Amino acid sequence: MSFDDIIVTGGAGFIGSNFVHWVIDNQPGVHVTVLDALTYAGNRDNLVGIPGDRLTFVHGDICDAALLDDIVPEAGAIVHFAAESHNDNSIADPEPFVRTNVEGTYRLLEAARKHGTRFHHISTDEVYGDLALDDPARFTEETPYHPSSPYSSTKASSDMLVRAWHRTYGVEATISNCSNNYGPRQHIEKFIPRQITNILSGLRPKLYGDGRNVRDWIHVDDHSSAVWEILNRGRSGETYLIGADGECDNLHVLRHILELMGKSPDDFDWVRDRPGHDRRYAIDSSKLRRELGWEPVHTSFQEGLESAIQWYADNKSWWETAKSEVEAKYAQSGQ
Ligand code: NAD
Ligand code: TYD
Repeated sequence: MSFDDIIVTGGAGFIGSNFVHWVIDNQPGVHVTVLDALTYAGNRDNLVGIPGDRLTFVHGDICDAALLDDIVPEAGAIVHFAAESHNDNSIADPEPFVRTNVEGTYRLLEAARKHGTRFHHISTDEVYGDLALDDPARFTEETPYHPSSPYSSTKASSDMLVRAWHRTYGVEATISNCSNNYGPRQHIEKFIPRQITNILSGLRPKLYGDGRNVRDWIHVDDHSSAVWEILNRGRSGETYLIGADGECDNLHVLRHILELMGKSPDDFDWVRDRPGHDRRYAIDSSKLRRELGWEPVHTSFQEGLESAIQWYADNKSWWETAKSEVEAKYAQSGQ
């Protein structure tokens, strides 16, 4: 089944906006309605350049049931990216995470149920907890849920709601759990853009703990192509893990950025570790590759990092005003 009119929640954020651009560029004839509350993480400019006849922007909250009743009946599918997405923020104040990630997903599922709308839920590999550094295992769709942080526990809760609404009410739904994304338009609170914009601002990058925590990096455009395949060809009721075999520890990622930006390998500060910091994430995406034939195309991490660095250097006005506030918040927690 192919959808020609979709609602994208959180479409003004990092991954949601890249997904909207990917759909507009790669799927002619598809119209997108973005529903976004424009929190600190949302930016209307992230959607600049998209032709007006292909995009409708609705400034609103996913918890607003009346608004959902207005827009959901027109759409063939909901692709749900909207969330509070940053672990460190969830440790400082979990409340908006429970509201948006749990209650917001509940409201959307109720709208999908009422109007018979296909639902695709964007989730994270963090719902599975973490793996040891010396463990050869990777997460699969069968790995038990074991979330560590307020952020990942609210994402785990939202995944459970989707599964229940599918089984009990027959909502046509799929879930994807993806590893760490990087690329243009990622908020500067996150690891890679924080370090790039620190260097561009004359500040020293900051590395948590012992720097050996491993993340499994994927370029955001590969996440987008995978979501499109699952939305259109995935089996209802199924979960698909998305990953691109990009495991790397934080120290190596930071040293790679320092090298690409002409700095010495020790030009950074070690800072206080994150409480409950997950050690390692790693995705086995063979189900997605086998069933839907998906493959990542941005497989050179070096090229991806180079183009991300170039994007932040070319788009200072996009991030400069937020920089001092983000760094002041980190300074308060010794990070
Ligand atoms: P982001 O923080 O950059 O963007 C979130 C967007 O949601 C923003 O535009 C914000 O305005 C909007 N939003 C927040 N609360 C809202 C509400 N109540 N109503 C409507 N809109 C609201 O997040 P991101 O990094 O792009 O992540 C998008 C999704 O992908 C999230 O569901 C996240 O859990 C998931 N995910 C992220 C990663 C990653 O590496 N960043 C990895 C796997 C999964
Ligand atoms: P982050 O981008 O917050 O993603 P997540 O917590 O969802 O994996 O952080 C990625 C990794 O980088 C994580 O192990 C924490 C670490 N980190 C730092 O070492 N320094 C930083 O300034 C930030 C923001 C993160």
